This record gives sequence, structure tokens and C-alpha cells, in this order.
Amino acid sequence: MSQNSLTVVDNRTGKKYEIPIKNGCIKAMDLRQIKVDEQDFGLMAYDPAFTNTASCTSKITFIDGDRGILRYRGYPIEQLAEKSTYLETAYLVLHGELPNKSQLDEWTYHITHHTFIHESIKKFLDGFHYDAHPMGMLVSTVGALSTFYPDAKDIFNPDSRRKQIYRLIGKMPTLAAFAYRHMLGMPFVYPDNELSYPGNFLNMLFRTTEIKYKPNPVLEHALDVLFILHADHEQNCSANAMRSVGSSHVDPYSATAAATAALYGPLHGGANEEVIHMLREIGSVQNVPDYIKRVKAKEKLLMGFGHRVYKNYDPRAKIIKRIAYEVFDVVGKNPLIDIALECERIALEDDYFVSHKLYPNVDFYSGLIYQAMGFPFSMFTVLFAIGRTSGWLAQWLEMLGDPEQKIARPRQVFLGYDQRNYVPLEQRK
Ligand code: CMC
Repeated sequence: MSQNSLTVVDNRTGKKYEIPIKNGCIKAMDLRQIKVDEQDFGLMAYDPAFTNTASCTSKITFIDGDRGILRYRGYPIEQLAEKSTYLETAYLVLHGELPNKSQLDEWTYHITHHTFIHESIKKFLDGFHYDAHPMGMLVSTVGALSTFYPDAKDIFNPDSRRKQIYRLIGKMPTLAAFAYRHMLGMPFVYPDNELSYPGNFLNMLFRTTEIKYKPNPVLEHALDVLFILHADHEQNCSANAMRSVGSSHVDPYSATAAATAALYGPLHGGANEEVIHMLREIGSVQNVPDYIKRVKAKEKLLMGFGHRVYKNYDPRAKIIKRIAYEVFDVVGKNPLIDIALECERIALEDDYFVSHKLYPNVDFYSGLIYQAMGFPFSMFTVLFAIGRTSGWLAQWLEMLGDPEQKIARPRQVFLGYDQRNYVPLEQRK
């Protein structure tokens, strides 16, 4: 008997099956042979929310939640945050290798020269209410891009795919900044090709009467690092949406709109905003012990703590905490940081948090930076979406190139009525 296999005995029939194990997994389809009789459909695995089901093989991002490890294409997130730029990291995530000088120059050139959006998108944005949520505007305008680029439907043409990738990474900051300016009722600011990726984004957000906008280098760098930290996070809700919707072979703008919509939810990209609300509710450092008591009594959650995968300090949270101080040196200290630090100090020493393996996650400090930089809460998830676009596209490309993938189509366990006959209206109770 092969060692790399699982022996299953079906106690309903007494039959024995040997199921191969590969990469620590059994294939769910190998269960289908397990039947009570010939009419039986065969055994399935029931796994709502995919908590123990791998939906794909991937070579993009590695996470070891117990040891607090995150790597893109093998490179530790700490090294990328310190030494790389967002555009270089996006290249790495998408292509699998770091670019050489000429590859990076070409990549940067193409992204920079695809930042303009069609003038009609501006008219489209004008149709939104002044108080429209920028994530709603982003979902709609990203989806609308597919109508401007019908060539994007040619998804098996590598040249077309490359072009859509330039466009998506290039235009996301423009769409995000235009949504922000629309909220403020301020004129749109066009991209400046002489600025870096994050520098140009700051220009489109914040430029007023200056002839030439000069981004603050500390804020420009902080934003670049935040984009790096958010570039990918393997099979999370929005990556899964990108793959699932993309598996129908729709164009990448429509699939990215679906991924952006998934990110919009408070259980995914919206938690950093909740952290700020919580810190405001706590109000002062003196009130922290009382709040922690309420968390332990299960009356409240300590927002920005805990993670489905990380059962150790989220490595991104450590980097963000350091960046927060660099930002505060420029824009002034966010008064909420002292409350956050006290929450962290108490929690890391407390038995409840230690035994539940609850540590700060990426959202614990990111909202404090965004708020200090002057972003309204509603823009927090938009910033996440810009960084994550490269990861979504990498997941999409990997899915399209994987011969084992097909249109995503989960099974269900049907527990509804068996067949019954239609009852005319007058005979119903
Ligand atoms: N505060 C207090 N207790 C908590 C917390 C928290 N933040 N998170 C989990 N717990 C407790 C929970 O009550 C449960 O306790 P018990 O076993 O005694 O019933 C135990 O820890 C396990 O929690 P869970 O909810 O079953 O764990 P999960 O893996 O399903 O949830 C989570 C993960 C992130 C949804 C959860 O930790 C949470 O709600 N955290 C606060 C919200 C937050 O910060 N979300 C950002 C996630 S990271 C960014 C992203 O993914 O987009």
C-alpha cells in the first residue's frame, strides 16, 4: 500500500478505498467513487466558507499564520517593505520574479502612461450623489472600464492581457482620486507622469492651486509601503471573487469590479475604519482597562485584533506601526495612537488574548495612518483596493493559465422539498 494515501472504510457498506494524498491534500473528486449503490451520486465534502478546502494551487503568496510569515513569490514582506517599491512588488507578484533594470523601467513607463481615464468616466462620476461612498463609485467605474476597452474580452491573448494589466494598475488610483474629489465637490486633478505611483496619487487627491504638486517624500513613501503590504494575501474573499468571476472568462475589468465589491464588506476591507470608531469610543488611555474587561466579557470585540489565518503577530502590523511614527513626525501625532498602544500593551500581556492567540492585524494601525494623512474613513478601503489590484490580477492570470481550473461551480447539499404538485391560488391556505 502506498504511504501517500488515505485508507477510508465506508461503514455503510464495509467497502475500503485508498485515496492518494498529494501536497497534503486529497482530491474531493476521489470521494465520488464512494457510493452506497450504483444509483448513489457519490460522497461529497461539505465545507461552507472553504475553511478546509484548497480551491487552487498557487505560487504567488505564502502565509504561515502560526509563525507570522508572509512572503510574495518567496520574498519576505519585511524585505519588500524596506527595499522595494509598490510598482516593483506588483511586477514581482504578477511575473514571479523581480524585474531587472530595463524590465522595471519598461513596466513603470507603461503603468505611468495608462493612468488617464476616458473623459466620459468623469460624466459618469458626475451622476453620483455628493455623499456617494467612494467604494461604490470605484466598483462601478472599474466595471465601466470594460465598456471602453472591448479588446479586454480577448483574455487568452497575452498582449491584450498585458495591456489590461497596465490599464488596471495605472487607472485604479485615478478612479479612486476622482471619486474622492467628487465627494468634496472639487475639480478633478489629472495624472502627472513625472511623479511616482504614490506621488501621483497624492497629487490627484490633494492638489489645489499649485502649478506643480510636490508630494511630501515621507507620506509618498508611507503610501508606497502600505500598497506593498496590501498587494496580495492569497485566497481571501476578494481574491476568491476575482478567480471565481474570472473563471467564467469575463473580461478583467468586470472581474476586478467583483473583487472590489467583495473587499467593500466590513468583514474584509472595512475593519480599519472600525478600529478608529472603537478607539474614539474608548476615548482615553484611562478607559482602556475597562474596555478590555468588556471585550473579555464578550460584550465587545477588540477591533484590529485576531485573524482567521494569523495566530501570531500579523507581520504587516509590525511594519505599519513603524511607518505610523514616520507619518506622525510630518503631520503630527494622531491622538488615538496612545489609546491603541495601551490596548496592545494590555492585550499582549493578558491571558484571554494570549490563550485565544489574538494579536494586532493589518488593520489595527493602518487606519490611524490614513486618518492622520487626512483621508476620510470612507477612503480607507479604497486605498486597500489600489494596492490589492496587482494581487487580484496575479490570481486571475494564474487561474487562466491553470489547466486544472474550470468555471467555478460549487456543489450544494439540497435539503429542500422533494417534488410536489402545483396548487392553484384558490386552493391555497
Ligand atoms: N476581540 C475579542 N475576542 C476575539 C476577537 C477580537 N477581536 N477575535 C476573536 N475573538 C475570540 C472569539 O470571541 C472566539 O472566542 P471563543 O473561542 O472563546 O468563543 C475566538 O477568539 C475565535 O474567534 P473567531 O471569531 O471564531 O475567529 P475567526 O477566525 O472566525 O475570526 C476575525 C477572525 C478576524 C473575523 C476575528 O478575529 C474578528 O472579528 N476580529 C475583529 C475584526 C478585525 O479586526 N478584522 C480584520 C481582519 S484582517 C483584514 C482582512 O482580512 O481584510
